[in-house]
Amino acid sequence: MNISVIGSGYVGTTTSALLAAAGHSVTAIDIDEAKVEAINSGKAPFYETGLDLLIAYGRESKNLTASGDYDSLGAADVIFSCVGTPDNPDGSPNLRFINEVAKTVASKAKAGAIFVQKSTVPVGTGERLSLVTKDQIYASNPEFLREGTAITDSLNYDRLIIGCNDQKTAQTIERLFKSINEAGKDINRVAEIGLTNEQIKENGHETIFTSVKSAELIKVTANAFLALKISFANSVAKLADKSGADIGEVMNGIGSDNRIGRSFLNAGRGYGGGCFPKDVSGLISVAIDHGVDFGIMTAATDLNESMPGYIVNKVAEVVPLKNKSVAVLGLAFKAGTSDSRKSPSVDIANIVSDMGAKVLAYDPQANEEAAEDLNSDVTLLDSAATALKNADVVFVATDWPEFKDLPIEQYKSLMSGKIVVDCMNCLDKAEVERCGLTYIGVGR
Ligand code: UDX
Repeated sequence: MNISVIGSGYVGTTTSALLAAAGHSVTAIDIDEAKVEAINSGKAPFYETGLDLLIAYGRESKNLTASGDYDSLGAADVIFSCVGTPDNPDGSPNLRFINEVAKTVASKAKAGAIFVQKSTVPVGTGERLSLVTKDQIYASNPEFLREGTAITDSLNYDRLIIGCNDQKTAQTIERLFKSINEAGKDINRVAEIGLTNEQIKENGHETIFTSVKSAELIKVTANAFLALKISFANSVAKLADKSGADIGEVMNGIGSDNRIGRSFLNAGRGYGGGCFPKDVSGLISVAIDHGVDFGIMTAATDLNESMPGYIVNKVAEVVPLKNKSVAVLGLAFKAGTSDSRKSPSVDIANIVSDMGAKVLAYDPQANEEAAEDLNSDVTLLDSAATALKNADVVFVATDWPEFKDLPIEQYKSLMSGKIVVDCMNCLDKAEVERCGLTYIGVGR
């Protein structure tokens, strides 16, 4: 099919590269020239496992082109909207880009083209936009891929949600995604993501057809529910700290109940990134617009925002941090990405620096991106070893493998102090203590 994808961020670029690899003719559109140039020169505009390889493959096969204009829309059978929805100061999503895309599609796309919204939008947006794109057929197809595992997630998804009021159109969209599954082995080989044949074969999971409004609500409430699980685990972690229970044991115990499930119950410094905080605040604001009290999510947000300060205070009770040399390892909101948006690890570095400590921070991918959000007196370094050298205290703030795999003896030999703060509960507590260091975790 002839496809245009508007917006070359994480979702748009991944979608473009996958559809091109599945044999479709794809134009990836973005107003940012640097992104267009990156894709046309065979590279992803950001770091994402395997994506460079897949884009280069798309360029070689001539199935993928990037463009700074909208000329391709006239011939497109399907148009995906994947532009950003930044949040307004009050937490509600800013739909400026979404609205502009709809107007452009209405003026340039052919009648009968399918207009698929992939961006996360408040419930009711599709109904409003359908009035703008009257000649096209509107569908909502929320995206559930995670940063760092975008290609794997796209091949190995739990469910595909298609919200559309026209059944034939919904089936066409399903076929598009099935074509990605069918090209799964090639995509796995080209992107070198290392899925087994079994994992690829297990593809083609459930497709759930819904109304546009339900699809819109599924997207934000799925993320909100996961955020709720994390905040629940963190609430229990605070109680475990006070009572002497171990949060890992408790969560394993409750997570083994099938009705609950073990995933997203890892306690630590809380969630961040471009999705969870924004989706949760967006949901709260939409609920207010509809006169619905979403206090449950306000509580989850407050708890999440309390975690960096909670951890730092726990340490300050053991050792005053003023004038101490403190290493902060990890600034990204999670391992495997250069993304430091709303990262609790950055908050930890800033809180420690506000307490008068000298902070030496390092992240394998996110130094550059985090720099603008860090206090000006935080020093960024280019390795874990230089950050740890002579440190009194270390905060392992993001669970990058290189921090988990660094032998505890090395922490000990590089540091001058003894305190190891495990903000993600990702280190072996017994081993840290065996080495004669003091371990401080979250709920352990
Ligand atoms: C999320 C959703 O998972 C994905 O489906 C959606 O499309 C986009 O938002 P992402 O933001 O890439 O994906 O990150 P995810 O892996 O879900 O982690 C979110 C945050 O939660 C991270 O900061 C992570 O460290 C934290 N987290 C996750 C926990 O603190 N504990 C957990 O148990 C799991």
